[in-house]
Amino acid sequence: MKRSKVIPSILSFYNKESSVGTEFRRLYSNIKNLSTNRKLQTIMVTSAMVGEGKSLTSSLLAVTIAELTKLKVALVDFDLRRPKINLYFGIGESEGIGNVLSGESTLKLVSRKTIIPNLTVIPSGRLKGVPSDFLDQSTVANIFQELRFYFDYVIIDSPPIIPISDPLLLAEHVDGVLLVVRGGTTQREVVQRAANLLTNSKINVLGVILNDFEEVLPYYYKEKYYGYHYHQKVLKSD
Ligand SMILES: Nc1ncnc2c1ncn2[C@@H]1O[C@H](COP(=O)(O)OP(=O)(O)OP(=O)(O)O)[C@@H](O)[C@H]1O
Ligand SMILES: [Mg+2]
Repeated sequence: MKRSKVIPSILSFYNKESSVGTEFRRLYSNIKNLSTNRKLQTIMVTSAMVGEGKSLTSSLLAVTIAELTKLKVALVDFDLRRPKINLYFGIGESEGIGNVLSGESTLKLVSRKTIIPNLTVIPSGRLKGVPSDFLDQSTVANIFQELRFYFDYVIIDSPPIIPISDPLLLAEHVDGVLLVVRGGTTQREVVQRAANLLTNSKINVLGVILNDFEEVLPYYYKEKYYGYHYHQKVLKSD
């Protein structure tokens, strides 16, 4: 019998006293300073291309806000094509936001508690079909309305802006967007194009986060080890 590997949650090793912890507290403080005119309750994390560190950044941002503020925080994996949040939080296969989008489940049913009492994780779940077909604007609006009602902060992990159309649809529903840039790999023009796509759609871009891949994760999260592949087929039908 094949035994599934149990991967511990990032919460079990994430050290808030480390330099990474300090950077995330700074990031939250910057977000708070931007919130004077308009409350930033829902924040989406995206990037130009794949693999820039969106899922890790959104996870650590949600953990940091939950720990610092003690307010109710939700982390939602809206990347229905390359979901990662369930892996980072050791959740395993589970229903999630995809099942809510398709009308099979409710936010309450797919919400997962974490060891941080005020942090809830909503994994991506499964969708039978192309994700963009399910991102009906009124369904998404209702989901965000409910999230705003139940949580003080909602952090959204999303797919990359350039190859996938989903994040632009989602961005219309959030108060602000953070753009993650993987240092040393993503070309300046590519980042500029992603930023333009957002600003041309009148999306509130809060800023850019440089992820220069300081080693904050142990080996078992590496894609190689976990057999994480890009879904070309789904992408082509986009
Ligand atoms: N700062 C970092 N230190 C170490 N590893 C990192 C760091 N940032 C990202 N990684 C690793 O790089 C890979 C991609 O990170 P992550 O999944 O967060 O990116 P992503 O932008 O969400 O990718 P995708 O576009 O596939 O959703 C993962 O294996 C992750 O563990
Ligand atoms: Mg991701």
